[in-house]
Order: sequence, then structure tokens, then C-alpha cells
Amino acid sequence: MADRNKIIDDYYNNYDEDRRLVKDQTHMVEFEVTTKYIEKYLKENHKILEVGAGTGRYSLYYANRGYDVTAIEFVQHNLDVLKSKITADMKIVAQQGDAVDLSRFEDNAFDMTLVLGPLYHLYEDADIRSAIAEAVRVTKKGGVVMIAYIPNDGVFSNWGVSHLLDGYPKDFDENFRLRRYPEGVFATFYIEEFKQIMKEFDVEYLHNVATDGLVNIMSEKINNLSKKEFDVWVKYQLSICERADLQGFSGHALYICRKN
Ligand SMILES: C[S@@+](CC[C@H](N)C(=O)[O-])C[C@H]1O[C@@H](n2cnc3c(N)ncnc32)[C@H](O)[C@@H]1O
Repeated sequence: MADRNKIIDDYYNNYDEDRRLVKDQTHMVEFEVTTKYIEKYLKENHKILEVGAGTGRYSLYYANRGYDVTAIEFVQHNLDVLKSKITADMKIVAQQGDAVDLSRFEDNAFDMTLVLGPLYHLYEDADIRSAIAEAVRVTKKGGVVMIAYIPNDGVFSNWGVSHLLDGYPKDFDENFRLRRYPEGVFATFYIEEFKQIMKEFDVEYLHNVATDGLVNIMSEKINNLSKKEFDVWVKYQLSICERADLQGFSGHALYICRKN
């Protein structure tokens, strides 16, 4: 049985996570939409926790803007990159840690908790629940929790379509759902399935957002847009991102709730 920790380490030690959200317009959509939703709820003096902070695209962005940020990241290499970018004027603490166990933090400690990545890699039901429960536990009552996940058909229509013969039925089941096992690196959800899981927690639903929509399928077109055209495309994505009928093929999704 492969160890999920080793699989995640191996993956991110060989992937340039630091360039992911800035490398082209296709990848920038996710950042633009996610920050718009973060800023709907973020108030001055809010304490932010980011779990699975990667190399700090979000954590450093908000620390740079004066927020008090705590960043937890599993992979040492990503954490090292994040730490190398911290400047003396930032109020940020970055530590190695696992989303499924945030016991170093007290209950109700943060105004906003961002879990933008760990659920991409957790495939055991118990780990998925622990990561969500921990994010909710450490968030203040009335605070906002945002959890990113990967919709199944965003993966199938991108990676899956290039692996129809070698991937089916090895990596995809008879319903073309990505099988959940650690060697697969990524775990996917159906939108309705994720919403159902979140009903197990004492939170109020606020939004389910398709953060980047069809970017995987349309990457060439999106990368070739002029800057002005791209700005309009981001506006389009923002205008449709909560439409349930358009979410299942999104590259990424974001569940946003308030702790009761
Ligand atoms: C796709 S990256 C996203 C990074 C950043 N949050 C962002 O959105 O740009 C996912 C990150 O989650 C981290 N991660 C995966 N599983 C984790 C876990 N169980 N606990 C903490 N971090 C985890 C990975 O190492 C990786 O850096």
C-alpha cells in the first residue's frame, strides 16, 4: 500500500507549484476568482489560516497586504520556497503540517480558513472528514471556511481523454470516475457529493464556485487572449461560476461556508 505522504512529496518535489497560478492565463483564472470570493468576506484585522499553502501564492499575497497569516504546508520543499519569500514587514508564520491534524491550534482561532489543495490529495473518507472537521474547528464561530476540491469531469475531460485506453478501467471506474487510490495522486468529487459531505458539518452554506471553469479544455484559446480580452473572460467566469449547470467540468471548485 503506497503511503499518501510519500506520494504527495514525490509529486510536489517534481512539480513547479510556485509557477502554477502565474504561468499562463489559463492558470490565472483560478487565482482571480478565488481572491474575489476571499475578499467578499475578508475584513481588516482578520486572522487567516491557509492549510496546504503550497509556495504561498495566497498566503504571501494576503500577508503582503497586511493580514495576519498562518500557513501550514505538508511538503517541505514547497514550505521552503514559501519561507524564502517572507519579508520582515509581513506578519506570517509558516509551518510544516498535515491538514488532517491541526491540533497545534485551539478551537475558534481564525476568522478565515482556506483549504486550497489538501482535498485534491486525500482519498480516504476518514482523512477527508478529518481535514474538513479540523478546518471548521479552528475557525471562529461566524468565520468563513473555504475548501477547494477537484470536480471529477474536469479531470476526465482533460487528462482522461488522453488515457481512454490505458486509463480505463484502471484509473477510471465504469462511470468514468477517477478511482481513489494514492498512486493516482489526485482525488476527485462530484459537485453534489461534495455538498452532501459538507452537510455533515455544523456550517452554513454560502457558495459553491467553479473557480476556473473550462480552462483545461480551452487552455490554448484562453492563453491566446489579449490582456483586455482576458479581463472580460475573467468577468465571464465570475458571472457564471455559481451556476450549478456549468460546474461539473471545472478544473477546480471552491466550497464556501460560515461556521455556525
Ligand atoms: C495544488 S497545491 C495548492 C497550493 C496553494 N494553496 C494554492 O492554491 O496555490 C496543493 C498543496 O497542498 C499541499 N497538501 C497536500 N496534502 C496536504 C495535507 N494533507 N496537509 C497539508 N498540505 C497538503 C500540497 O503539498 C500542495 O502544496
